[in-house]
Amino acid sequence: MSELPWWKTSVVYQIYPRSFCDTNGDGVGDLAGIRRHLDHLEWLGVDAVWLSPFYRSPMADFGYDISDYCEVDPLFGTLADFDALVEDAHDRGIRIIVDWVPNHTSDQHPWFVASRSGRDNPKRDWYLWRDPAPGGGPPNNWVAAFTGGPAWTYDEATGQYYLHSFLPEQPDLNWANPEVVEAMHDVLRFWLDRGVDGFRVDVVHLIGKDPDLPDDPEEYLPIPHSGLNHRPETHELLRGIRRLLDSYPGDRMMVGEVYLLDTTMVATYYGSGDELHLAFNFPPLYTPWDAERWRSQIEIVSRELDPIGAWPTWVLSNHDNKRHRTRYGGSEARARAAAVLLLGLRGTPFLYAGEELGLEDAVVPTDRVVDPGGRDGCRAPIPWEPAPPHGWAGADPWLPWPPEPGTRNVVSQREDPASILHLYRRLLAARRRSPALREGDLSLIDAPPGVLAWRRVHQSGDERVLIVNFSADRVTMPRTGLSGLVEVASDGSGEGAPFTGEVGPDQALLIDPRASAS
Ligand code: NOJ
Repeated sequence: MSELPWWKTSVVYQIYPRSFCDTNGDGVGDLAGIRRHLDHLEWLGVDAVWLSPFYRSPMADFGYDISDYCEVDPLFGTLADFDALVEDAHDRGIRIIVDWVPNHTSDQHPWFVASRSGRDNPKRDWYLWRDPAPGGGPPNNWVAAFTGGPAWTYDEATGQYYLHSFLPEQPDLNWANPEVVEAMHDVLRFWLDRGVDGFRVDVVHLIGKDPDLPDDPEEYLPIPHSGLNHRPETHELLRGIRRLLDSYPGDRMMVGEVYLLDTTMVATYYGSGDELHLAFNFPPLYTPWDAERWRSQIEIVSRELDPIGAWPTWVLSNHDNKRHRTRYGGSEARARAAAVLLLGLRGTPFLYAGEELGLEDAVVPTDRVVDPGGRDGCRAPIPWEPAPPHGWAGADPWLPWPPEPGTRNVVSQREDPASILHLYRRLLAARRRSPALREGDLSLIDAPPGVLAWRRVHQSGDERVLIVNFSADRVTMPRTGLSGLVEVASDGSGEGAPFTGEVGPDQALLIDPRASAS
């Protein structure tokens, strides 16, 4: 058995609850829909699930604008549904990570309603209110995400501006106020007491702010301030949150969304093992399908994280970005090779629901666009069955289906052993079998141009080699004595047979160098 904590050896599967499965016929996925499909997750072999927000919300940002942190939005079900989901998941050995959104609430949250009601309200200082700049206008030049406009909205009634790093409906909390810290710690306690295994912490690098709120440098305009905020105050706050998690039994964890596109900065949010357990590192997500660019990302991650004992994370798709199959040009062969890449690296991989089906983004006609941030395509509903309504309860889902739902659905792909779904399952099973894949060191090895190859080695002697051909050419690996059996091939060809030294276009292989044909 592994000595490492579960969050280092797990494969985490992100569910965007609105889009997973609707059981009550309102066109929006719900907690009961997730519970219904735990079988699928167990069969696939994931270890943990991260649920995007399901809390009470006016849905200006589809749940990332929360009006009650300790209540389930009626769209998704009830607290009893949540408890049942946790219990069923735990019975199957699947851990549950919930989203926690500490930087901002909804403008409908009672805290903000109170704060906005008057300058003397005791909750005024729970948010960031400032007078207009001398001469009028917003207090500084910060830019909001999604709108590209000022990160400040003027409140006529009280004559001040409030800060919102995202939509005006998402006012930023003032974490410099100890009452806010305590109230948000209480939210964590509420969910920890209900048995969650961890938190995915939304834009956590934003919670500490420079008390002077100075202008961003001209050269960074108009980058949203949310991509620039990097402050010592945040680290202090994270240590407090970490102490709270550590006071609970059972290895509770947090993975932080550090939306700073610089791995050196991201690394600092692990602290000295006293801040985040894991941090998302997005530069690889923004890296195109190119061997050299990926080599450099892998090297940067080892260079920045290994020396400080920080455990990496890898993610190719999520609810904020075009799906990687779409980004990489739409080819299923590449999506398959990318699965081998993601699941062969050193660190905790995060899958985004539907990538195991090779889903592409939906084409969303203008009259069905609902997200102010332009992210509808990757949030298309998951098709479960071949025939409409594809395993959903009947009503038209809130977004259009992704392409080819008649074949790109769970039932059809489960019946087809050659499907990408079965490839993901074989890869997850290979990770479970191999300590080298789960926890071993990583070293890059010689490979022809357009190809990346690396070795994973575990102290037990277990070893694996991975080869990903990013090019459109068939390549021959250098004669370095590499042999063994192909354990998984992205296109299924040659699995179980000795490695020939050849790798096909957009093909990726997982090789067990110590195995030999019997
Ligand atoms: C990051 C989340 O992933 C995104 O969906 C959300 O819109 C912003 N944070 C604001 O909460």
